[in-house]
Amino acid sequence: MSTGPFTIAIDGPAAAGKGTISRAVAAHFGFAHLDTGLLYRAVGAQVLAGSDAVAAARALTAADLAASGLRSAEVAQAASRVAAIPEVRAALTAFQRSFARRAGGAVLDGRDIGTVICPDAEVKLFVTASAEVRAERRFAELREAGADVTRAGVLADVRERDARDRERSTAPLVPASDAIEIDTSSLSVDAAIAAAIAVVEARR
Ligand code: CDP
Repeated sequence: MSTGPFTIAIDGPAAAGKGTISRAVAAHFGFAHLDTGLLYRAVGAQVLAGSDAVAAARALTAADLAASGLRSAEVAQAASRVAAIPEVRAALTAFQRSFARRAGGAVLDGRDIGTVICPDAEVKLFVTASAEVRAERRFAELREAGADVTRAGVLADVRERDARDRERSTAPLVPASDAIEIDTSSLSVDAAIAAAIAVVEARR
């Protein structure tokens, strides 16, 4: 069955479970998925390698999103610094909007999808969890990937990035007024996915 455009916007702070939920929701409905954090991570990685942030954002290609190392804590911090630059965000807007309106449906996860990129999204979710729970999950992920990190370091990192994302003047991290919040602090992965799917089902 083919469908027209249908946008699911999933926002929230670092490591709240947006990626896991987004991938599962997209697979469930047969929608395409865009992890918009990867765009900012790719620009951040290029800045760490010596490029200018705005030039890197304007020249970003699909191949840049497949670069290795984009999931590191260092790149995450660089991403949140470049994400505060209005020209960087502007350079990435058109691509995200056209992805959101592709035929067949799309799930985008990030910080400003429901507020700035797709204010008319058919479904908006805001996924949260306590900072401690989020840091614990990210710590486990990074260790699994072989990174040399400590619990305390990951928690400090998550807090610093959240503060920068919330306090920036362009597209700050804030729930859209019509977003449905899912707090995953005490939910299993399966329960969090089921909660998200139920919200989407109710809107279809
Ligand atoms: O995976 P995690 O939730 O830790 O981060 P991410 O979604 O990959 O995003 C990395 C950084 O990119 C965030 O800390 C934000 O500063 C920025 N970002 C943003 O500003 N807007 C988005 N739509 C997505 C990410």
